[in-house]
Amino acid sequence: MSKKEIRVALIGHQFMGIAHSNAYRNVSMWAGTPAKIIMKCLCAKDTPEKLKSFADQFGWEEVETDWKKVVTRRDIDVISIAAPNFLHKEIAIEAAKNGKHILCEKPLAMNLEEAREMLEAVQKADVKHCCGYSYRFTPSLALARQLVREGRVGKIYHVFVRYAQDWLADPNAPMAWRMNKKYAGSGPLGDLSAHSIDATRFVTGLNFKSLVGNLQTLVRERPVDGNNPDGPKEKVTVDDVAQFLVNFEEGATGCFESTRFATGRKNYNTIEVNGSKGSIFWNFEDQNYLLFYDNTQPAKEAGFRKINVTHDVHPYHGGWWPQGHGIGYADSFVIEVAEFLRSITENTEFHPDFEDGVKVQEVLEAVEKSVNGHSWTEIS
Ligand SMILES: NC(=O)c1ccc[n+]([C@@H]2O[C@H](COP(=O)([O-])OP(=O)(O)OC[C@H]3O[C@@H](n4cnc5c(N)ncnc54)[C@H](O)[C@@H]3O)[C@@H](O)[C@H]2O)c1
Repeated sequence: MSKKEIRVALIGHQFMGIAHSNAYRNVSMWAGTPAKIIMKCLCAKDTPEKLKSFADQFGWEEVETDWKKVVTRRDIDVISIAAPNFLHKEIAIEAAKNGKHILCEKPLAMNLEEAREMLEAVQKADVKHCCGYSYRFTPSLALARQLVREGRVGKIYHVFVRYAQDWLADPNAPMAWRMNKKYAGSGPLGDLSAHSIDATRFVTGLNFKSLVGNLQTLVRERPVDGNNPDGPKEKVTVDDVAQFLVNFEEGATGCFESTRFATGRKNYNTIEVNGSKGSIFWNFEDQNYLLFYDNTQPAKEAGFRKINVTHDVHPYHGGWWPQGHGIGYADSFVIEVAEFLRSITENTEFHPDFEDGVKVQEVLEAVEKSVNGHSWTEIS
C-alpha cells in the first residue's frame, strides 16, 4: 500500500527555517514516519535568488514571498511557522481557517490573549497543532520526565531552572527583531524562559500557582549595524534578563532565570529537580547525558550518576545510531516532526500543542504583571 502524502509549506528560512527544513527532509529516513513528505513550498522574505538557492539546497519544490498565498493553497496540508513571533497569530489563524495542520514555533504568541485566540482557531478548525517546544524531544529530557513520573525523585521540593546564553554580552552586538518588543513580545522571558516553563511542566507535571518576577534591560540601545558601532542606534525595548520565583500548586517552589549575558554560557538550558527520593539535573549542553542522584541508596554510594542516554533507556531510541553514538540539536526537530506527522496520519493526541503553548503564555504574562505591579501574582 502506498504511503499517505503530506504536503508541507514552511514560512521562514533562517535559524528555525533550517531546523524545520532539515527535519522534513530527513524524517522518513530516521523516524520511519508513515507518511510520504512532499516539501511543497518555502516562503520567506529574501531575494528570489537566495530563496531559490535555499529551496534547492533543502529540497523545497517552489518558493513564495507572500504567506497569505501559501496558507490558502489547496495542495498543502501542513504549515510550519518559523517566522518571528509577531507573525505567529495571523499566519496560524489564517492557516487554521483553511484547514491546515500547524507546527508553530515558540513562544506561541506575543501575549496570552493572542495565544488563546490561536488555540480557539485550531480547535474550531479541528486541525492538529504543535507548539515548537522542541527540547521535549531531546532523549535525555524525555528520560528525566520518565524518572520523575516513575517516582524516582519522590515528592518534589523544588526546581532550579536556568537558561543562559552570552551572545548579547557585547554591547555592540547589533539590534535585531529579538530586541524589539513590537516583533518579539519580550526578550529572554519569551525566548528562553518559555522553554524552561515548558520543560518544567513536561518533566515534573507541576502546576504554576503564583510568582514574583524581575525583568531588567542591561544595554538600552544597540547599533543597527554591528560593523559600525558608532553609527545609528536603536532602542532595546525588551528585557535582557528575566528572573522569577514560583510557588507551585503541589507545594514545591521554583527559581527561574534566563539571560543572554552569561559569558561562557552558550546554550546552557538546564533544569534541576530536587525531591525526597533523589534529584535529576539536565543540561542541554551535555545533552546525551542525564545526572541522577538516588537518595534511597546508602550514603556512600548515592552520588550523582551520569547516565549515558544514547540507547534504549529513552523513548526515541528506535531508528538512531547504535548505543554510545550520540545525537544532536537537529535530531530533536526530526523527532518532533516525526511525532507530529504521526499524530496527523494516525489521528492521535500530540503534545506540545497550542494548549501547552497557552499554559506557558499564562506564566509569561504573570511575570510581566508581577514586574509591573511590584508584587506576587497569581497565574490566571
Ligand atoms: N524551538 C527553538 O528552540 C527555537 C529556537 C530559535 C527560534 N525559535 C523561534 O522560531 C521563530 C523564528 O526564529 P528564527 O530564529 O528562525 O528567526 P530568524 O530571524 O532567523 O528567521 C526569521 C525568518 O522569518 C522570515 N520572515 C520574516 N518576515 C516574514 C514575512 N512577512 N513573511 C514570510 N517570512 C518572513 C525571514 O525571511 C526569516 O527566514 C521565532 O518565533 C523564535 O522564537 C525557536
